[in-house]
Amino acid sequence: MSDTYRFPDGFLWGAATSAYQIEGSPLADGAGQNIWHRFSRTPGMITGGDTGDVACDHYRRAAGDVELMRALGLTAYRFSVAWARVLPEGRGRVNPAGLAFYDRLVDQLLAAGIRPAVTLYHWDLPAALDDRGGWLNRDIAGWFAEYAEVVVRALADRVALWTTLNEPWVSADGGYLYGVHAPGHKSLFEAPLASHNLLRAHGAGMQAIRAAGGRQAGLVVNLEPKYAASDRAEDLAATARAEAYMNRYYLDPVFLGSYPDELREVFGEAWPAFPPADFDLIRQPLDYLGINYYTRSVTCHDPTVWPMRFGRVRQPQHPYTEMDWEVYPQALTDVLGWVTARYGRIPLYITENGAAFADAPTATGPVVDDPLRVDYYRGHLRAAHRAIQAGADLRGYFAWSLLDNFEWSCGYARRFGLYHVDFATQRRTPKASARYYTEVIRTHGASLAG
Ligand code: BGC
Repeated sequence: MSDTYRFPDGFLWGAATSAYQIEGSPLADGAGQNIWHRFSRTPGMITGGDTGDVACDHYRRAAGDVELMRALGLTAYRFSVAWARVLPEGRGRVNPAGLAFYDRLVDQLLAAGIRPAVTLYHWDLPAALDDRGGWLNRDIAGWFAEYAEVVVRALADRVALWTTLNEPWVSADGGYLYGVHAPGHKSLFEAPLASHNLLRAHGAGMQAIRAAGGRQAGLVVNLEPKYAASDRAEDLAATARAEAYMNRYYLDPVFLGSYPDELREVFGEAWPAFPPADFDLIRQPLDYLGINYYTRSVTCHDPTVWPMRFGRVRQPQHPYTEMDWEVYPQALTDVLGWVTARYGRIPLYITENGAAFADAPTATGPVVDDPLRVDYYRGHLRAAHRAIQAGADLRGYFAWSLLDNFEWSCGYARRFGLYHVDFATQRRTPKASARYYTEVIRTHGASLAG
């Protein structure tokens, strides 16, 4: 019976974080400002006026945090590099002290038997580049390639997996369409330009990673499967729009060389004519695709939602997380199957999966009890296994997140960690979900049967 949940040999068991969410000390050792440094200082944008100035203080506690990973039994760790630590102006002058932080981290991970998976961009654009137009400036593809080359040249011999961008959809949707993420623009006209330049930067970044000797390079996207709320024509059309906007927007150009037709409908007159040659750059072969999965959406037509005209229907029969995201593990199996069917049987990693629940702000015992998160992980790890049995080439799983951290516009008010963090003292305490995950790793999945 326990063999039911055996994962493939060499399967990576990881946890993930990102630079701005955990590091703190954003300007230390000559780093430049990034757009989240600025955005978090804009009144009203972050719950509680929180910033990433201290976060988990990981910049100064990295060695101890690697010990936490070792205690978990991780075989891989996914983290991001802060572009403005390495290139304070975003391009040109390299800051050796910034690069040295990641160089040390990689060595510490390897010494603990943990394989580093490095994301080059997890939303913290150097402010100096935002001043030049940020993701709206076509030159950004070249800026990103230059940055990628510096980092990859320094670390290539020791890094297992490279990612160009984390969730470009969020960068464009939050940063340029709705203005709820840095740099806080709200424009129907800017959003498609930002998306397109993110994709061009991804393509140029792939070329730069390979030229600098990086192996195993790919892209990480967030996918949220869409299920039509009814078979009425307008719900079906809304579901197709939602699916194109969230799930095919980035993958179609990367794998198929064109945008989904529905995007024209979504953006109307704001949808530009893109130079056809751009798609040659965008369509670089990937070694793997990373998928971040949290929830699904049961989708309906909703004319009041600007500009998409689709909404989601609540499913009261299922639990919801503190993000108000429905817990629905089967959609993870479905989405891994959908990617495999639509884009081919490429190597896949679940690069993020996890849940925010209302853990206590202060830990009072040796372990923080988080039964809802344990259930979430159990359900989703089983769902990942079902996808493998159905034929997906899934090679690893990264829990989001190693630590409670700065949850973007929610500040510290949402906790996703396997380790509880008391932000007043920086004390880390394992949650029951950390213990649970350790047992899954130790048994290579067999304990999921219990
Ligand atoms: C992001 C993380 C974020 C998580 C939970 C993902 O979209 O990559 O940075 O913390 O979701 O919201």
